[in-house]
Amino acid sequence: MPYKEEIDIDRIPKHIAIIMDGNGRWAKQRGHERSFGHQAGAETVHIIAEEAAKLGVKYLTLYTFSTENWNRPANEIAAIMALLFDSIEEAIFMKNNISFRIIGNMDMIPENVRNSLNHCIERTASNTGMCLVLALSYSSRWEITETTRQIAKEVQQGKLSIDQITDECIASHLATNFMPDPDLLIRTGGELRLSNYLMWQCAYSELYFCDTFWPDFREEELRKAICEFQKRERRFGKTSEQI
Ligand code: FPP
Repeated sequence: MPYKEEIDIDRIPKHIAIIMDGNGRWAKQRGHERSFGHQAGAETVHIIAEEAAKLGVKYLTLYTFSTENWNRPANEIAAIMALLFDSIEEAIFMKNNISFRIIGNMDMIPENVRNSLNHCIERTASNTGMCLVLALSYSSRWEITETTRQIAKEVQQGKLSIDQITDECIASHLATNFMPDPDLLIRTGGELRLSNYLMWQCAYSELYFCDTFWPDFREEELRKAICEFQKRERRFGKTSEQI
């Protein structure tokens, strides 16, 4: 049965996070440069964003460029930055009522790319459907370090007492403070790790791994992952009987 018919539309995960892996290997298999894979991956970003919005997902957070990715060859970094500058298809966001946001260390992003992304954020800000979030120059350790510094500063300034540092207080200082934690984390490309992505936020997320390289990840694959998610029992530390 196609996954479309199997999906329970009343139990769509509110927040899906994706580690878009496999662009480089996809390109290599075809005898191309790695950047060719990123270009194909950018098309998949738009296809999956549109499908997620249609299914009723509220937040889609895509790991686009990690803090560690700055160590990649300069030509590959430049190719990804160029894609961010000229491959974002705002028309698809407008058509699907998608708002666009970024999390990460934007100071590291070249100014022209930053300006172009900021324009897209501004122009889509009043869209009320799904929020598409790109994690750019992002890593969990960077985010938690920044959060810790900020909280320490507030304590030092007397704005916050140590007793007020709770789970909720930390969450409210993270870059993701405008959205709920991911219900479902998908990683494409066959690797089985978190790679410094949303580690605080994924404490209770359901994890889904598939071998498909990101450029080949299509609507049916997303629906398959959601169906798999809907079969899981989320206990959040409780027993089955308590649910
Ligand atoms: C991981 O695959 C992917 C990345 C580091 C880059 C992801 C970037 C995109 C999908 C382009 C985004 C562009 C827009 C416009 C949103 P990898 O290169 O590590 O793959 P490999 O494991 O096969 O080497």
